[in-house]
Amino acid sequence: MLTIVKGPYLQWPTGNSITIMWETSGPASSYVEILLTERIHSGYHGNYKKPEHVRATVSKEEYSTIHQIKVEQLEPSTVYFYKIRSENEQDETEAGPHFLKTAVREGESFSFTVTSETGGYSGFDQSNGQINRNIFSQMQKYRPDFSLFVGDIVNDGHQYEDWEKYFFGPGKEFLTNTPFYSCLGNHEDNASFYYDFFAFDFPKNYYSFDYGDAHFICLDSTQFVNRETYPNSSGKMAAGNDQYDFLVRDLQATSAKWKIVFFHYPPYVSGGYQVEDLRQLSPLFEQYGVDLIINSHTIVYERSHPIHNGKIDLDNGVIYVVAGGAGAMPEWLLPKREWHTAQSLAVPHFLQVVTTANSMELQAIDEQGRLFDKFRMLKDSLGKRIHV
Ligand SMILES: [Fe+2]
Repeated sequence: MLTIVKGPYLQWPTGNSITIMWETSGPASSYVEILLTERIHSGYHGNYKKPEHVRATVSKEEYSTIHQIKVEQLEPSTVYFYKIRSENEQDETEAGPHFLKTAVREGESFSFTVTSETGGYSGFDQSNGQINRNIFSQMQKYRPDFSLFVGDIVNDGHQYEDWEKYFFGPGKEFLTNTPFYSCLGNHEDNASFYYDFFAFDFPKNYYSFDYGDAHFICLDSTQFVNRETYPNSSGKMAAGNDQYDFLVRDLQATSAKWKIVFFHYPPYVSGGYQVEDLRQLSPLFEQYGVDLIINSHTIVYERSHPIHNGKIDLDNGVIYVVAGGAGAMPEWLLPKREWHTAQSLAVPHFLQVVTTANSMELQAIDEQGRLFDKFRMLKDSLGKRIHV
């Protein structure tokens, strides 16, 4: 019998394309149908008509178990429905319709959520998946345009079952309609499954993308600070290192109004597992006007004051947020806050970030849907930060 064992899930949305992935229980062909729909303006609650007009179809005859189909020539900021189907000589299977939304245009507002650590870790057992299901269902309520996962989404990246148990299973509904980006945590351990299941730009462990007025850069901090040298980088964060050179080139090339960098190990957290060596990247973030750094690894929430040159600087500082999301390890926090700590709390949580051309509002929300931190950045029309 042929069944869908993962997904369908969405990857790499742009204004006119999106990639749809799923996994089947055996080798089979891949087929995607994109359907147009219309909004119903009935005067009552909002809804869409049943999707009926086929906008595009894409198929691959060759068999695979992990299916990856890129659909192009779509319109920006548009909601479509999609169906998938796989067939082989014995059987066929299908799913949908589910909805998707292409990326917004420059100048348009958008929202995204952030979480991590769905893989659990010794002190909190995620094997029954309840916290993860709570976090995914809360994130769904906010209807984000996409989501970031900041690593350790599985317990052991080399275990095939982990990817379903900790991530694709609890996130099933959310991931059918929310494209996501992920970075490598130490628990993924650079396993080949990360490269198989995700359709990020080559080399996949680091990449960048634009969405609306924001530029996002994903880094692989486990490559800078690998298992053998942890918590030291042993001189890797310098010119001549491929990933470091990519970061410099990428920051130089972007003119986006908002710049967000995410990677697993936290340079600033008033708790265990801080990886101070990563502060070697801070001068670059400061030089190129990065607004927000998002990390994980320490399983708490923490937001820093704006930091520049190792000091609080409200005018020019970079804000570091640890979104060690789907878990809570209060005992990992130090007894008292550090100089750089603005807000900190060890509860299972996610971030909801709403961005316009001139504002970025970050909310930290717990697994029951309660807001426990909020922060807003404003910029003038020239892109200079305004105090709020
Ligand atoms: Fe970690």
